[in-house]
Amino acid sequence: MQGAAVTRRRGQRPGHSATTAHFQAAYPFQGQGGLGAPGVYIGADAFGGAWVFDQWELYERRIMRSPNIVVLGEIAFAKSTWIKTFLYRQFLFGRQSFVIDIKGEYLPLAEAIGVSPFVLEPGGSMRLNPIERRGGRKGQLTLLRSVAMASLRRHLVPEEEAGLRVALDQCNDEAGSADPTLPNVVDVLLHPREPMVAGVSAASGPEFAAANRELALALQRLCDGDLKGIFDGQTSAGIDLDSPLIVFDLSAMGDSEALGVLATCVGAWQQAVLRERKRVSDETGIPMRKAHCVFEEVWQVTPNIGVAEWLQANFKLCRALAISNILSTHKLTDFDTAGDKGSRAVRIAQNLVPDAGCFIIHRQSPDQREVLRDDLGRSETEVELAMGLDVGEALWVMGAYSTLVQQRSSAREREITFTDQQMGANPPGFRPTPTEIARTGG
Ligand SMILES: Nc1ncnc2c1ncn2[C@@H]1O[C@H](COP(=O)(O)OP(=O)(O)O)[C@@H](O)[C@H]1O
Ligand SMILES: [Mg+2]
Repeated sequence: MQGAAVTRRRGQRPGHSATTAHFQAAYPFQGQGGLGAPGVYIGADAFGGAWVFDQWELYERRIMRSPNIVVLGEIAFAKSTWIKTFLYRQFLFGRQSFVIDIKGEYLPLAEAIGVSPFVLEPGGSMRLNPIERRGGRKGQLTLLRSVAMASLRRHLVPEEEAGLRVALDQCNDEAGSADPTLPNVVDVLLHPREPMVAGVSAASGPEFAAANRELALALQRLCDGDLKGIFDGQTSAGIDLDSPLIVFDLSAMGDSEALGVLATCVGAWQQAVLRERKRVSDETGIPMRKAHCVFEEVWQVTPNIGVAEWLQANFKLCRALAISNILSTHKLTDFDTAGDKGSRAVRIAQNLVPDAGCFIIHRQSPDQREVLRDDLGRSETEVELAMGLDVGEALWVMGAYSTLVQQRSSAREREITFTDQQMGANPPGFRPTPTEIARTGG
């Protein structure tokens, strides 16, 4: 209209406008997409709307039956990318993350958050005591059992169950106010003290020692064998338990048999830290900080009964310990091959599936059709879809609900999650950042 002047008051500025995609990235917890619960921005759902997600919010609303997440997908279809990006975004909201990193690929994320991974390697400087008192006696015993089973690669017989229990009590007594260590346990098992012999009603010390010799030698391997120097003493100083991200880098072990034992010991220590936190929370009434427990490529270690037992405990304890376990593996049938057919490890691994509240399914191979249909209750259309997903696309399944999501990353996040250095190439459809170009030589 001619002559109509738009008057602007002093100090008034034109409003800032941005696309909804930018807005959701800048204010992740404000996004109203997804299932209507607040969460961090993940990407776009099948309808083009924002997909936001927070497992605890969805669990509280009974949309997820537990806060545990299983991430499936063939190699290089962006499983790790999703996990790292998610942890990075959740970090802004005070969530803590523990990561067992068997490939040694979390350094860029750790650097971005301003922490350093703890490298566990034979002859290294980092040591963890998996039987610290912080988990309480019950926690100590549970973890000592897992470590013993991991090391023996079998279940304990009744004599060993009883032997381990009295050995732990003896070590706690002898250690006074200090923490007992694995070498202490080995010592008392090989040279049982009088109260131990009486505690299991053994006829004599030699009888006790004979019944527990295999167990003692298996634990001794942790102190003297290929894992020497990692778990045979008190935990090294300098681990900040309040750090937003605690990464244990186990990549030095490669795919050696000891990896399962190593993972169990780290998991045991981690669980003890969380149990202590729960005790403090129960005493003070201050709610526990929510934490992610990430374990990628879990198929490599589930055949080990110790790992399977500890993982099962972590899954069951998720509500009590305020944790969300995030596991990644290629396909659901990896859990079937977790040991000999019908073995306890297989049964435990299979039991993890019903305890998961969310499956994030990246590209699947055709041999997974039946499992997706029968075990996860997916329709034929979804099964077809899962076989043809592109990198970064995933089918999200939470109980009866499912949707297709394309994850989105910022340039900074792509730097943190880039794992194709060895390939010397950038994946199709993924615009390289200047750092990637510099790193790979273009
Ligand atoms: N949307 C995407 N498009 C193309 N490449 C991607 C995308 N998301 C991630 N990538 C890249 O693909 C590579 C493999 O991803 P990664 O998450 O490590 O795979 P996985 O853990 O499934 O084996 C990484 O270098 C990552 O930067
Ligand atoms: Mg990966």
